[in-house]
Amino acid sequence: MKVGILGNGNVGGGARTVIARHPCGLEVKKVLARHIPAGLEGLVTTDPAEILEDPEIELVGEALNGLEPAYTYVSEALRRGKHVVSANKAMICRYFTELHALAAEHGAGLRFTPSAGGGIPWLVNLRRTLRCDRVTALRGILNGTTNYILDAMQTQGRCFEEVLAETQRMGYAEADPSADIDGLDAQRKCAISASIAFGIPVREEDVPVLGIRSVTAEDVQNFAAMGRICRLLVQVEEVAGAVSACVEPALLLPQEIECSIHACDNCISLTADEAGTLRFSGPGAGAAPTGSSLVQDMIDIAALGKAACAGNVVLDGKAVLGGDAIHSIRHPYYVRSQGKVPPELVRGGAGSAKITAPLTPQEAVQLERKLHRRDKTTFLAAILPSGKGNI
Ligand code: HSE
Repeated sequence: MKVGILGNGNVGGGARTVIARHPCGLEVKKVLARHIPAGLEGLVTTDPAEILEDPEIELVGEALNGLEPAYTYVSEALRRGKHVVSANKAMICRYFTELHALAAEHGAGLRFTPSAGGGIPWLVNLRRTLRCDRVTALRGILNGTTNYILDAMQTQGRCFEEVLAETQRMGYAEADPSADIDGLDAQRKCAISASIAFGIPVREEDVPVLGIRSVTAEDVQNFAAMGRICRLLVQVEEVAGAVSACVEPALLLPQEIECSIHACDNCISLTADEAGTLRFSGPGAGAAPTGSSLVQDMIDIAALGKAACAGNVVLDGKAVLGGDAIHSIRHPYYVRSQGKVPPELVRGGAGSAKITAPLTPQEAVQLERKLHRRDKTTFLAAILPSGKGNI
């Protein structure tokens, strides 16, 4: 099958290299890039029409950043009946419903395994599980940059800014690292995973999020004194038809699985009625792992050919997204702030920080916003009960 790749950066270039090494019946006919690198004049173009309007190209791999022009190009490819594999979490998350409707209308396959979990076959196995099972919970680490930072701060005693700069040099952090350290990247991956798991469109703004921008070496020392390790955790669960989801720094006991995930690796678990708890871990970012995940989806589509559309996600779930009133996720929080935590919420202390009564993630976000007005360095983290690591 002849394919076109939109993007020649980290992931697009990674996919091109993987196909060069392992063609698997795929032939890269054109690659879209901003500039044409020396030696690739015949292959690389700056004109998207050379891919989108070429009837020989049946499959488009999309590895651009951000919403536009990615959404315009992918929509056009689907309208022309071309299959699409995307690594673009921001675009897939924002236009989940629209893209699936377009793919169904035009009989095109749509896959996006590399958009969450980098090189880990996470979304593809989540979809596979659902064929004969019901998923009730998801939990884990879906951002490599923040895992690298939290791990290095805990194990090497290094400071936040220094480690963040290192992740940028290594190419793991997003172009604007705010997406990583404010939890927005994990929020999108959480929304995409939850949409698949429950067959309902979950938007990023439906997922309350707390980031790690303000975490300090002193916080990490407080966590150690509490016998805890911090990880940026995605949590989704369904209770009696209501889905609750959040992304937040979580203080875990050292024996929990996520504490053994180091550097940029990700680790995500699903719990299903029949299969039990299944865990997937590995490189959550990087050119070769994420590029290979894009190629794996391409191989699946090429094998199915015109039938690829039948394997697309169908949004037919009956669950509803839980508002605050029915939010089943509720934890005490570690709060370090110069702002005043309402006394009725305080249940104890940890060094310079306070421990609150159990709050929903939404209530914790509201508390963080209030305290942030007084102290921009405010930091909150959920304190998870022991044993919750084995959902
Ligand atoms: N910035 C992302 C991460 C890249 O650190 O996980 C992979 O999506």
